[in-house]
Amino acid sequence: MELRKINRQDAFSEWQFITELPAEENGVENSHHGISFEEYVEKVLPKIMSYEHPENMPDWFVPETVYYLWDGDMLVGEFRIRHHLTEALRIGAGHIGYSIRKELRGRGYGTAGLKLVLERAREIIPEEEIFFRVRKDNIASQRVLEKNGVYVSGEDDEHLFMRIRK
Ligand SMILES: CC(C)(COP(=O)(O)OP(=O)(O)OC[C@H]1O[C@@H](n2cnc3c(N)ncnc32)[C@H](O)[C@@H]1OP(=O)(O)O)[C@@H](O)C(=O)NCCC(=O)NCCS
Repeated sequence: MELRKINRQDAFSEWQFITELPAEENGVENSHHGISFEEYVEKVLPKIMSYEHPENMPDWFVPETVYYLWDGDMLVGEFRIRHHLTEALRIGAGHIGYSIRKELRGRGYGTAGLKLVLERAREIIPEEEIFFRVRKDNIASQRVLEKNGVYVSGEDDEHLFMRIRK
């Protein structure tokens, strides 16, 4: 299994993933559900790739790198690392977001992918701890986090806030 940064060579598999992923699931939003391959290649892919080194973006925008998890030649899921916290991210979505393709869930990919992503995140993120937010009813994601050593640091009505030391 390996992580590959989003790139042009893998565009077809990346598009299949993003167009199939629901528009909203467990608080994870996907504004690209159902888009065409042409639109993905011409507009969406360049835009997402630019987020790693953003130009002409508002002050609040935090650089973000998107990785895909591959098992051999099969793309299984997506992991996003926001490079640092803002006040909104600290009390909100945190540093890392992820999704695994629906038909491939429950096979250990989420857990294995997060382990690899944490290695990358430790090289990027300046804060002492890596922050996550998960819905209280999202037991699968909580298991993925717990199995990677991420602990519960707080909660609100709907979410657990979780962290791991770098
Ligand atoms: C959360 C998610 C990434 C988990 O990926 P996954 O590849 O299925 O995870 P794993 O196979 O590594 O399973 C992790 C654990 O969750 C458990 N699990 C999986 N689906 C479950 C479900 N519906 N209910 C309860 N537990 C579940 C597994 O049994 C496993 O626990 P175990 O090792 O104790 O048996 C995936 O469900 C997903 O993409 N969900 C939609 C997006 C999302 O919620 N992202 C996270 C936002 S915080």
